[in-house]
Amino acid sequence: MAILKRVIKSFVPAPVFVLLKQNYRKLLVIREAAIDASRHIKYGAAEDDLFSGSGTSRHLECQLTKDYHRIEKGLALKHPKHPFGEGVRSRLELGLRRPIAHEQLPEVVGHAESALEALEGWNTREVIPQMVSPTVRSQSVWEPILNADAQGVLEHFFSSRRSVRAFDTSKAVDHDAIRQAASTALSTPSVCNRQAWRLHVFTQAEDVSRVIRHQNGNAGFGGGVPALAVVTVDTRLFAGAAERHQRWIDGGLFAMNFAHGLHAQGLATCMLNWSMKNDASNRLRESAGIPAHEDIVMLVAIGHTENEFRVARSPRRSLDAVLEMR
Ligand SMILES: Cc1cc2nc3c(=O)[nH]c(=O)nc-3n(C[C@H](O)[C@H](O)[C@H](O)COP(=O)(O)O)c2cc1C
Repeated sequence: MAILKRVIKSFVPAPVFVLLKQNYRKLLVIREAAIDASRHIKYGAAEDDLFSGSGTSRHLECQLTKDYHRIEKGLALKHPKHPFGEGVRSRLELGLRRPIAHEQLPEVVGHAESALEALEGWNTREVIPQMVSPTVRSQSVWEPILNADAQGVLEHFFSSRRSVRAFDTSKAVDHDAIRQAASTALSTPSVCNRQAWRLHVFTQAEDVSRVIRHQNGNAGFGGGVPALAVVTVDTRLFAGAAERHQRWIDGGLFAMNFAHGLHAQGLATCMLNWSMKNDASNRLRESAGIPAHEDIVMLVAIGHTENEFRVARSPRRSLDAVLEMR
């Protein structure tokens, strides 16, 4: 490659060489994006409407988890829809019929079965079991911190953040609290300290409602979100084929620290996915006044909670399933 470069350089004028080099680098970006796409197609799971119960056990786990969590989330709303979950129920039943689910995914099967039971209980008797949708008291975040040792305080702080889908709409979100949380998030590490993050925060009801309408994961609680942040990154700060994923990593880390900063201010959050196509991103940019050179990482719903509120169970994997000490 180095020899080819030297040969071309000796034959073509310098400006032409720069032009060739620029276009070659652009081709590299396209090549890498195409490889990303083909890996995604090759290894990824089917979308909801194409789920037939086939695929590997990991694909099955993906669908079962998505669907049982939909039930948990639905039951964690302030006013759960009644009845709900017909599509979810039939996909879960289809997935649970596969022997591979019981052989290889006993924990996931347990979560799916208890969620199905909870759905049935809600749809027929309007009962919500604690197991699938536990009740949390808002003071529980800070109470154990008094008298605890420093390590315990920190562990409690991180483990007590939960996604909240039932906000107290009578309490406005203080701008200073958001500023403080954003300031905390500024300590987030980033690639070569590029700090590409941007935060677009909306606290006026009409702005929140206009912007959140573009997001697809807030059914049942989007109308009761007191404040909304759109986390973006400045695409201009990343260069070349090798950095094509970096913005999502840096943006995700920043969003996490922002959520923890809000948690420290006593504010609850729910991160909201931006798994959308480019057309939808353009529409959101227009609606939220976000410049074209910013990429959307996620949205974050923000608000106070009532004294008691339900959260989705969101069971965790065991440590051994995640940690590989070598
Ligand atoms: C990037 C990201 C996107 C998410 N998108 C949504 C969403 O669109 N709607 C929603 O209700 N929850 C969403 N969540 C919340 C997850 O469901 C939640 O974090 C997970 O179940 C773990 O529960 P916990 O946050 O209470 O610990 C999202 C979380 C992340 C990190």
